[in-house]
Amino acid sequence: MVAPVIQVESLTYQWANDSGFGLQVEQLDLVSNECLFIHGPSGSGKTTLLSLLVGILRPQQGHIRLLGQSLGQVGAGRRDHLRADHIGMIFQQFNLIPYLTPVENVLLTCQFSALRRQRALAKSSSVAEEAVRLLSHLDMADPRWLKLPVHQLSVGQQQRIAVARALMGSPELVVADEPTSSLDSERREQFIDLLFNECKASGAALLFVSHDAQLADLFDRQMTLQYQDSARVALTEQGPAL
Ligand SMILES: Nc1ncnc2c1ncn2[C@@H]1O[C@H](COP(=O)(O)OP(=O)(O)OP(=O)(O)O)[C@@H](O)[C@H]1O
Ligand SMILES: [Mg+2]
Repeated sequence: MVAPVIQVESLTYQWANDSGFGLQVEQLDLVSNECLFIHGPSGSGKTTLLSLLVGILRPQQGHIRLLGQSLGQVGAGRRDHLRADHIGMIFQQFNLIPYLTPVENVLLTCQFSALRRQRALAKSSSVAEEAVRLLSHLDMADPRWLKLPVHQLSVGQQQRIAVARALMGSPELVVADEPTSSLDSERREQFIDLLFNECKASGAALLFVSHDAQLADLFDRQMTLQYQDSARVALTEQGPAL
């Protein structure tokens, strides 16, 4: 049996504010090469769920294992290291450094993780060359764009740079938080194809969350964040209603 890249059991999380928002995940397993789509409307807890899975937030109850390592049993510093070494994150707002160029942004991954640097160097003769290789797979290697600070590029271009940064150094898990929200439908499917191809090429598991139920059919598996009552949401195996 293949060991899960990420494994969740009996998780509950409650934000400590007046919203009373609570999230429950009975079980979630994701293995290498698998592409999972999680659907949920705005405010249903997609970003909260991803923050829990990558160890930014800690659940009040339950277990999360990343590559067999229990995130509940390690401190914040170790969780940061595990995340930098093994997870490529595409944030809802990209979190690129605006005054750096595309390559400089992609190289940040290697500054935070020696392992990712090593893996990048196994693929290309320098980390900068590997960054350009990834950017060119994502159609972003035009020399005119490579010279610019990323704040001078379009939102769609910034999205692709965020993907290249997440894929740099072949992480075992790629998580994508609503990465297609600013693309038109044709570019959306193109973008997801690119993401799939890059993840398959490196054997990464992909966890993709979005409010856009129409994307669900493109994925191997689907799950949904469903309201149990006005403030409690549970992750269910059922795919989104189309
Ligand atoms: N930083 C925070 N502090 C307190 N409560 C929060 C915080 N972030 C989110 N919440 C609560 O968690 C709920 C879910 O928010 P979350 O950002 O996870 O939803 P989402 O599905 O990602 O929404 P969107 O599609 O708009 O990005 C919110 O309705 C809010 O009540
Ligand atoms: Mg969100």
